[in-house]
Amino acid sequence: MTENMSYEKVYERSITDPEGFWQEAAEDIKWNKRWRKVLDDTRKPFYQWFAGGELNTCYNAVDYQVESGRADQVAVIYDSPVTGTVQKITYRELLDKVANFAGVLKGKGIAKGDTVIIYMPMIPEAVVAMLACARLGAIHSVVFGGFAPHELAIRINDAKPKIAVSASCGIEGQKVIPYKPLLDKAIDLAEHKPSACIIFQRPQVEALLKPERDFDWIDEMSKATPAECVSVSATDPLYILYTSGTTGRPKGIVRDNGGHAVALKWSMKYLYDVKPGEVYWAASDVGWVVGHSYIVYAPLLTGCTTVLYEGKPVGTPDPGAFWRVISQHGVKALFTAPTAFRAIKKEDPDASYLKKYDISSLKYLFLAGERLDPDTYNWASAILQIPVIDHWWQTETGWGIAGNCMGLEPFPIKPGSPTKAVPGYNVKIVDFAGTELPAGEEGYVVIKLPLPPGTLPTLWNDDARFLEYVTQIPGYYVTGDGGYVDQDGYLFIMGRVDDVINVAGHRLSTGAMEEIVSGHKDVAECAVIGVDDQLKGQVPVGFVVLKAGVERNDQEITGELVEMVRSNIGAVACFKQCSVVKALPKTRSGKILRATMRKIANKQEYTVPSTIEDASVLDVVKTAAKEMGL
Ligand code: COA
Ligand code: AMP
Repeated sequence: MTENMSYEKVYERSITDPEGFWQEAAEDIKWNKRWRKVLDDTRKPFYQWFAGGELNTCYNAVDYQVESGRADQVAVIYDSPVTGTVQKITYRELLDKVANFAGVLKGKGIAKGDTVIIYMPMIPEAVVAMLACARLGAIHSVVFGGFAPHELAIRINDAKPKIAVSASCGIEGQKVIPYKPLLDKAIDLAEHKPSACIIFQRPQVEALLKPERDFDWIDEMSKATPAECVSVSATDPLYILYTSGTTGRPKGIVRDNGGHAVALKWSMKYLYDVKPGEVYWAASDVGWVVGHSYIVYAPLLTGCTTVLYEGKPVGTPDPGAFWRVISQHGVKALFTAPTAFRAIKKEDPDASYLKKYDISSLKYLFLAGERLDPDTYNWASAILQIPVIDHWWQTETGWGIAGNCMGLEPFPIKPGSPTKAVPGYNVKIVDFAGTELPAGEEGYVVIKLPLPPGTLPTLWNDDARFLEYVTQIPGYYVTGDGGYVDQDGYLFIMGRVDDVINVAGHRLSTGAMEEIVSGHKDVAECAVIGVDDQLKGQVPVGFVVLKAGVERNDQEITGELVEMVRSNIGAVACFKQCSVVKALPKTRSGKILRATMRKIANKQEYTVPSTIEDASVLDVVKTAAKEMGL
């Protein structure tokens, strides 16, 4: 369809004839029943792609690959420097494992439409569990291992899983983190109780299993009868992935089966320029959207070999870790977050470790998850001498919104810009009233409806909250990012316009942290804001006002607050700095001026808002920020 065509032509067609465009892309997927309508818009703004169609995502990702001659090709390379393991799993072996684990789930009563929580480290069993759910038409919800029991409990209550799948531990660099006590605590905290837990025992830690509720993965696999693929509607949910919103209540992003498979397979060819049989590595975690789309589904749907890496860019064992994996496995395209490259650059600024490895297989580096700062872009380009592609997307869309399409005709790059919209996305810059802004003017980055296939059809059990994305500015999906388009049509994403922050490529809510901090008995009110960080992009910093009459030592209290955020949200929040202040700057109506605080803490220019109640409080923030070394 799109081969040998220019980006402009392909993009134009995707916008003027989305149904024709995506219908052709859908021919690349194996359907059990053809769709009735490519795009069903009868319930606008709830759009449905491939309505009436039926397929099975696991079939397309695994069985179909075996049937079409890839049985002996490696599907998954599990590379785990933290355990000293490299394990290669062929498509045939993957099929056996997935069908068998689907049999385990089926034996425990899981059927189409049921939900399953997966709380796993980066081991092959996590991928097997996800695909096994897809095989049965069950809906998985993977929760990132760095989240604490309180966060896991929130997700259990919302997704109401029949079963939880977990492992005895995760391994974070040198640290072994027992997962089972965290899962047990989360189930204790949650109102909803899964009826069974299936636990993969890793050799590093043996989890205690509760009789009657908990089952051993290996025991269950040895007794199971393999299960076949269940045909599901294109519009049935494949998974729920919770992501941070502006409050403590995460948003359950729903992904459908049909549009997802079509869009991801299209993206592998045209955005990433990766072909069947090639090795693709997304150095992320299965708990994030990048892991769902580009560790698991997209590479397998394409018949690639995917790398599942249980390690870090540095320290496992050194800053040459990425180069070692690329050379050992012949990786063609690497996808990670800019923060990973900042971490490598910090430890090995001259890239001396790179000289030890032959990484000539690597043709592209794709970066996403946070803004790619020009310094990191320049460094990565200089050391690798290959295209370094910044692309912008979010959990909600599930795949790239803007980026230089390597499978079409690429553009010259402008550092700081992910270039232009990916075909399917009609991206605009508008003001609050929805009026399109001229080139160079910063505003809200929105996408004209309908969104392309693969993007969120709604939020789990919460159509009303989904509508907030698409009704604030009628006719558009509001991304939550601010930015502008320059004279040459290049898009620049300047950061979130809400209280979502990005810490080491991990999306977190400062609102959720404020809810925890304000729960402390001595805290009257607080503000948590994101400040720039050289390594992690952003880190959260707290400002708290104590209740009148509290005489305790400030450091003791802030230490408790740091611990509360760590144990409630998780270490991944990186909430390490907090200061007690006399007051917070507010408007006369009592709204905390977080945007102004952010500017002060980031040493940016700011104007004193005309609505401020007491301008002298800004000096309080300035002093506190200075004392924290910001
Ligand atoms: N399970 C349990 N704990 C976890 C975890 C997991 N899956 N992932 C992270 N954590 C913990 C870490 O051990 C660390 O704990 P600590 O405060 O006790 O040291 C804390 O959460 C913060 O983790 P992280 O933000 O990853 O920081 P780090 O200093 O360990 O590593 C980087 C920094 C930049 C090397 C790392 O974040 C990285 O590789 N990021 C880039 C890639 C990526 O995963 N992006 C995601 C989306 S693409
Ligand atoms: P997540 O949902 O975790 O993928 O985070 C999505 C958010 O990360 C976006 O809304 C942006 O704020 C930010 N983001 C992701 N990719 C980029 C990028 N390439 N450039 C700038 N910001 C990005």
